[in-house]
Amino acid sequence: MKPFIFHLRTRIVFGRGSLNRLGSEAAKLGDRCLLVTGRSFARRSGYLNTVVEILEESGLKITVFDKVEPNPSIETVYKGFEEGWETNCNLVVALGGGSAIDAAKGIAFLLKSRARLEESLAPNEVGEALPIVAVPTTCGTGSEVTRYAVLTSVGRRRKEVLLGDPLTPSVAIADANLLNSLSRELVTYTGFDALSHAIEAFLSKESTPLSDFFSLEAVQIILRSIVEAVEGAAEARENMLYASMLAGIAINCAGTVAVHGMGYYLTNYHGVHHGLANGVLLPHVLRFELQRSLSRLEDAAMRLGFENGIGLVEKIEKVARITGIPRSLVDLGVKPSELDTMVADALSYARNLDKHPCPLSSHDIREIYLRALGG
Ligand SMILES: [Fe+2]
Repeated sequence: MKPFIFHLRTRIVFGRGSLNRLGSEAAKLGDRCLLVTGRSFARRSGYLNTVVEILEESGLKITVFDKVEPNPSIETVYKGFEEGWETNCNLVVALGGGSAIDAAKGIAFLLKSRARLEESLAPNEVGEALPIVAVPTTCGTGSEVTRYAVLTSVGRRRKEVLLGDPLTPSVAIADANLLNSLSRELVTYTGFDALSHAIEAFLSKESTPLSDFFSLEAVQIILRSIVEAVEGAAEARENMLYASMLAGIAINCAGTVAVHGMGYYLTNYHGVHHGLANGVLLPHVLRFELQRSLSRLEDAAMRLGFENGIGLVEKIEKVARITGIPRSLVDLGVKPSELDTMVADALSYARNLDKHPCPLSSHDIREIYLRALGG
């Protein structure tokens, strides 16, 4: 068996109503809290007020930073740092999807280290950060259990990674009640992000027996639950929250591979939602690997109860069709004339491509993008 190290740093408080535990959990870690959230969802849904009340009841002083945009920029992290610095915060609470949680991780790092974020990006590892409590409101990124923050360098049109154990949230409050008002599109997109995480972590060269366990369980649950979750079924949404967390644990060990590496272009150049980008590319990458008879893909399919790899890929394609994920990149506004730029951009994400189970040449990546353009 492949040797591995597995360390899960996060205390997971899972279940409906677990938000009520936020105050007591947070109070163990600090008393002056920077609450990091997005620009509209938390306020509009009323969750922001609820969370502030819960934290104040436990005696915490709160500073709200509600300016995190989707695909948060490094500049936004600096703005959040300034807010937390002025009020001398000693704890960061993130309320939102992956964007809010990732921005919170960057802010927690700056508040503790006062370092330059640009000089601390991966492959460097950060050595310190304020304690973080994550409250996910989507069922996708798994950022509540990972040691990564994905941040956008707007000027360079690049997704950068901040990496290190101190970025792993100390506590994750996973309360499916917070998913009740999540739109159909966001359940679909974040759900496909989670599905990509689970499959890519399984395929990754850095997968381990234990990360496989989390990957396969996540794939199983997502394929069973995503359609009902998109339609609004409460139990299915809770299943998706659970599965996205499992997939987060899997990528925390094994990372992501070509689907993510190839999808960043779509987000950085066309503003495509990260999960939608992965959802469109996933079947095309898997079809390409089926042709190469990738043994890990066949292995995943068998262990999931499919007769062969084709069975698994067809099931993913069916779920994508039902939930409204387009087949073609053209539907996302991408033009064939961009192909050269797309290939060069994907190749620049060595951190993903190097983990891909079988080397992908520039010709291979071009071929996958071409097929994805064709639909
Ligand atoms: Fe992702």
